[in-house]
Amino acid sequence: MDKNRILIFDTTLRDGEQVPGCQLNTIEKIEVAKGLEELGVDVIEAGFPISSPGDFNSVVEISKAVTWPTICALTRAVEKDIDVAVESLKYAKHKRIHTGIGTSDSHIKYKFNSDREHIIETAVAAVKYAKKYVEDIEFYAEDAGRTDNEYLARVVEAVIKAGATVVNIPDTTGYCLPAEYGEKIKYLMENVKGIDKAIISTHCHNDLGMATANTMAGLLNGARQAEVTINGVGERAGNTSLEEVAMIIRSHNDIDLITNINTKKIWPMSRKVSGLMNMPVQPNKAIVGKNAFAHSSGIHQDGVIKNVCTYEIIDPKDIGLDDNSIVLTARSGRAAIKYRLEVLGVKIAEEKLDAIYKKFLDLADKKKEINDEDLLVLAGMDRSSDHHIQLDFLQVSSGVGIKSVASVGLDIAGEKFEAAASGNGPVDAAIKAIKQIVKRNTTIKEFTIQNITKGSDDAAKVHMSVEHDGRIFYGFGMNTDIVAASVEAFLECLNKFRS
Ligand code: KIV
Ligand code: ZN
Repeated sequence: MDKNRILIFDTTLRDGEQVPGCQLNTIEKIEVAKGLEELGVDVIEAGFPISSPGDFNSVVEISKAVTWPTICALTRAVEKDIDVAVESLKYAKHKRIHTGIGTSDSHIKYKFNSDREHIIETAVAAVKYAKKYVEDIEFYAEDAGRTDNEYLARVVEAVIKAGATVVNIPDTTGYCLPAEYGEKIKYLMENVKGIDKAIISTHCHNDLGMATANTMAGLLNGARQAEVTINGVGERAGNTSLEEVAMIIRSHNDIDLITNINTKKIWPMSRKVSGLMNMPVQPNKAIVGKNAFAHSSGIHQDGVIKNVCTYEIIDPKDIGLDDNSIVLTARSGRAAIKYRLEVLGVKIAEEKLDAIYKKFLDLADKKKEINDEDLLVLAGMDRSSDHHIQLDFLQVSSGVGIKSVASVGLDIAGEKFEAAASGNGPVDAAIKAIKQIVKRNTTIKEFTIQNITKGSDDAAKVHMSVEHDGRIFYGFGMNTDIVAASVEAFLECLNKFRS
């Protein structure tokens, strides 16, 4: 392989998917995995198979669905984890086990109540055990960012000797400064015997906003794999974002690195993941935020009109941003909806298209123009059709100086129920009415309402989390009526109690 080629290891479906409320079902994960394959990623981390039957099954199904990228499964340095991961990768054409253990003093002392020598022995044993079943073994030294370089070099040397083909140096807590992380990689490149037999990988978290800078520092000092997620999704402040690394490498000819990423697929992939995870992209997010190419100041606009290179370092077309976006209205037909969704990276089966089109017409009746964001939300909403509890009707009256009252009709597995309640606002009244019908103990833990674009006729998106029986359930609703959107989100939570 070209010595300047950077392997892109995508962990949207493992580290990215650990974000509360962003869980995907297996079908959605397959859709993301296929999108990643089209995008040109080299490795897809498909899950942590021992963690749940759902994760196990997703790794199995993604292994069947994807052809070119290596499929990777995460484990702890534990034989049982490795056995389950090996089984889950049975159908993968190219497979990798990603095993590892914490190496910082705090992990060794508080997490494992162990010592440095024992950690090296456990790491070596895990790599040797996994190597019996799979040739390609990646080892992660968790919290390597806070592990001292001399000890880390001993760990890396030992696991390479045991058969690791890739060694991952995670900055698990997002603490390192770019110069410090770059220095760490350089130290390993210069001090580990046998380093040429393995690829060093970066895996950076964004707690202090330095994930991309740290990743680049690692690559400039000899790492040849970058672990990333679409839109930078991931626990807490997230992981390094794929689009940032890919576009830095593409834009900077001076650093002489290359990836296999087809950057024209970046925008549709970003929207696909955002839609499926119900996770909006921050408007000023680098590369994929909706303001990333919007020049609003007079001076900038003037410069861009004279010559785009004055203020634009990336051509929006290079990331697949189609600026001739067509406006959809109530007069648009099914074909236009299907085409626009395809441009946005969402392939819709004919039978699903009917349901989406019906929702599209409902929304277009209330809102003159339907934009891409609306459409993506509509495309993700057809999940409600197989819900056990469905909303039949909702009527609310509210105002200033009067009590809010709501009447609600529900269809529960074909049986009709009705209730009315009052509350300190229309949402409270509607939720109380639902609770009278569905007698479950629930506490709303999170409740956010966002408009999608702008205008008082805009649709609202509601994200809700509800606690029931010590578990947290997440729901999502979208409607031009914020009370209806809230009720949809609450019902989605209730519908999940059975799963
Ligand atoms: O951040 C981290 O350390 C990880 C490892 C499990 C690879 O995600
Ligand atoms: Zn991580």
